[in-house]
Amino acid sequence: MPEPLPVSAVEGRELARLIRESFAEIEPKADELAQYFYGALFVVAPDCRDLFPVTMTTQRSRLLRALVYVVQMVDRPDELVTFLGQLGRDHRKFAVVSRHYDAVGVALIAALKRFLKEKWTPEVESAWTTAYGLIAKTMREAAQAETGPAAWSATVLEHRKLSRDVALVKVRTEGLLPYRAGGYVSVEVPQRPRFWRYLSPANSPRGDGQLTFHVRAVPGGWVSGSIVNHTKPGDVWRLGPSMGVLNVRPTSTKRRLLMIGGGTGITPLLAILDDLSHWKRNPPVHLFFGGKRPEDLYALDELRRMAATSKWLTVTPVTEEGALAGGDRGTLAHAVTQRDGWRNHDILVSGSPPMIQATVAKLLAKGIDLDRISYDPFTLD
Ligand SMILES: Cc1cc2nc3c(=O)[nH]c(=O)nc-3n(C[C@H](O)[C@H](O)[C@H](O)COP(=O)(O)OP(=O)(O)OC[C@H]3O[C@@H](n4cnc5c(N)ncnc54)[C@H](O)[C@@H]3O)c2cc1C
Ligand code: HEM
Repeated sequence: MPEPLPVSAVEGRELARLIRESFAEIEPKADELAQYFYGALFVVAPDCRDLFPVTMTTQRSRLLRALVYVVQMVDRPDELVTFLGQLGRDHRKFAVVSRHYDAVGVALIAALKRFLKEKWTPEVESAWTTAYGLIAKTMREAAQAETGPAAWSATVLEHRKLSRDVALVKVRTEGLLPYRAGGYVSVEVPQRPRFWRYLSPANSPRGDGQLTFHVRAVPGGWVSGSIVNHTKPGDVWRLGPSMGVLNVRPTSTKRRLLMIGGGTGITPLLAILDDLSHWKRNPPVHLFFGGKRPEDLYALDELRRMAATSKWLTVTPVTEEGALAGGDRGTLAHAVTQRDGWRNHDILVSGSPPMIQATVAKLLAKGIDLDRISYDPFTLD
């Protein structure tokens, strides 16, 4: 069990308030802030430059954006601590070392001070410094305690299209990458060095080092388009350690399961279904799989085949535009919450950050207990 973040809920709320309010003041200038932040970082620790992609114009704000997002979450210490432990272990793949955390802290504070000007009060400074310090300490300690590999090489075995814009890629790692069905890993592909992106394996671990990913080419995306259109067998990828909180344990077979997956957010749920199909006894599962149009539900045939042979699985497709036989119309949040009877279910939600937010909010409004809902809460697109 990770050590809890040493901040009470009340202290966390006050820190988060000061951080959010001060950041809102300078958010319109986020690009300039990011430029200043990276400039300062590369002066304070020039060796950090090599950790980042060569082309940083579109990328400039990735770390800073993530950093500000995470720091603002200091009022959720219990959830944050698990995520930060995983993030710290994951950052070893960048060759981040302990002193880099001090350099990032110095650059962050210098950039905020410069842009907040007279609004940089002692309270605001103390809130940012305290929150960053707690976060960096948790990440650093988790990284230092980890003795496993920082990353795994993986050779592409197979690449094929599942639909117009989704490709399946199967890789085999050199050495076993430990992960649980429902998790995600970060991936670097040879076509885009140093651009790491998260992907969720669609299969449960089998002990043979094989992981299957489903990747959708996002319009204008740097990495996804390259994976979908240019990956070939024999390419060597690098994978970071497993992250995430979505999973089902054999102890929970008494509970019914409700799974809600949007787009390629279905992949961790496919991995969990793959895992469940090997259990002796399964909990009943109702899966809602949603997308904008019918053609976005690229895994529906596979899911329907699985449901036809697994009595414990019910699949409901959901589309916002265009109808599907046996399907619901609307958003996933709407389709799920227009039905009752979810109170005795454990609920897993997976998809884009806005889809997760909308779905979890509607479930809570329906009176479902938050403890019953699992999702990865700190993901960015
Ligand atoms: C926990 C987690 C698990 C993930 N698992 C998978 C997975 O299994 N399969 C998969 O294909 N992707 C998955 N993703 C998304 C993936 O990590 C990348 O964000 C996505 O592939 C886009 O990367 P890119 O470099 O092509 O786009 P970028 O160059 O990073 O972004 C380009 C533009 O596209 C926008 N954009 C980014 N993502 C999306 C999106 N999903 N839809 C629409 N617009 C977007 C950005 O806002 C930006 O404007 C996952 C993300 C997270 C956080
Ligand atoms: C302590 C606070 C930190 C937090 C909360 C944090 C968080 C994050 C997150 C969430 C991402 C995005 C991951 C992704 O999209 O793949 C990221 C990316 C990254 N981080 Fe950190 N990080 C921290 C410190 C550091 C430090 C000290 C370094 C070393 C200089 C570092 C280097 C990087 C790099 C190189 C990237 C990838 C950037 C890119 O793709 O453009 N981070 N960080």
